[in-house]
Amino acid sequence: MPVTQSREILAASRLDNVRYAIRDLACIADEVTQQGHTILPLNIGDPITFDFETPAHLIEAVYRAMKDGRNGYAPSPGIPQALTAIRAEAARKGITSLQDVFVTSGVSETVDICLAALVNPGENILTPCPDYPLYSAVLAKLGIELNAYYLNEEDGWQPDLEDIKRKITPRTRGIVLINPNNPTGSVCNRRILQQIADLARQHKLVIFADEIYDKLILDDDQHISIAAVAPDVPVVTFGGLSKNYLAPGWRIGWGMVSGEAAQVMPYIEGVHRLLRARLCANHPEQYAIQPALEGPQDHLPEVIRKMRARRDLTVAWCNSTPRVSCVAPRGAFYAYPKLDIPEEDGVFVRELVRQKYVLVVHGSGFGQRPGTKHFRIVFLPNEKILGSAYAAIGDFLRERYS
Ligand SMILES: Cc1ncc(COP(=O)(O)O)c(C=O)c1O
Repeated sequence: MPVTQSREILAASRLDNVRYAIRDLACIADEVTQQGHTILPLNIGDPITFDFETPAHLIEAVYRAMKDGRNGYAPSPGIPQALTAIRAEAARKGITSLQDVFVTSGVSETVDICLAALVNPGENILTPCPDYPLYSAVLAKLGIELNAYYLNEEDGWQPDLEDIKRKITPRTRGIVLINPNNPTGSVCNRRILQQIADLARQHKLVIFADEIYDKLILDDDQHISIAAVAPDVPVVTFGGLSKNYLAPGWRIGWGMVSGEAAQVMPYIEGVHRLLRARLCANHPEQYAIQPALEGPQDHLPEVIRKMRARRDLTVAWCNSTPRVSCVAPRGAFYAYPKLDIPEEDGVFVRELVRQKYVLVVHGSGFGQRPGTKHFRIVFLPNEKILGSAYAAIGDFLRERYS
């Protein structure tokens, strides 16, 4: 029997749940720009769009690699000197049971490969709510239903342990932990990491620890890797050059697999099958990994100083603005204020950009507890731009809701 198709070429129905609110808003922003307005963009976490620069010695390393003819394919797991540097970085993070490392085209590809290598149809992976939307997009692409656990706003956005316990089923294979967190800016404390590790141990879960912001800690917290807290638990820790090293366009990320060798080996083989199938990560850019991890780190104090000042301005504005309240972010460069408004946060965000030309992302694009409303601010712009954006949002709130 021939399969009957309509003339339209329909996208696979699996994609119905693929959303990426951060970039999906670009269409409305384009509309506003075409009308001749300049948008204040507080929506995309790209430091290079603002007054941050990729460290010069990293640019040199990539330039040299290109001039030296490193423009062919690289080995599928990554170039040896990068892998050695990533192993040493794992040791500095306190990861003592490291079994494997590999380089990918951004953490985005690490996530894609590492989730695909684990989960079978009918199984599930716990993801945070709110989450960084890549996770739900990848799972949707794999045809895996979402199993989201809440982050607890009343507890500084720490993972809600009771909710995690409730959501674990016999078919749960893993849990995603984003620390420091996008979109909330929270940093996990040791107690919660130990409790999550206990649950993973008990239910044989793989932990996916997204630590792409681990060097962007704004207060005096120490960043703790869950892989260091639980050397016996299978953990894949994600890191990369996009945020800590201000090179998001290079698309360089990596995975570090830790745990007991015999337990994780079959999974690692699966990961490598996928790494070989996509040939390799960007080649010349991999030459920046070793100088990034082992060379001068002096961009970091200045980056953190700027981010801390912008965070303080953001929190002060939230706390002095009617209908807005915010848990102070402690890491990364995002704030996730709560909104007390009588309409959906998606409407708030669309109307805000149309009327005041300020672009933020609606909480419903990341997920949130039913009945709550939020928006995500990227506080990377300088104080002058942030000040204008917050004045405009304040005017909008007053005009629309009082
Ligand atoms: C938590 C988190 N993970 C992963 C990524 C993607 O990182 P990459 O640029 O390395 O693909 C981002 C980007 O914003 C992120 O916020």
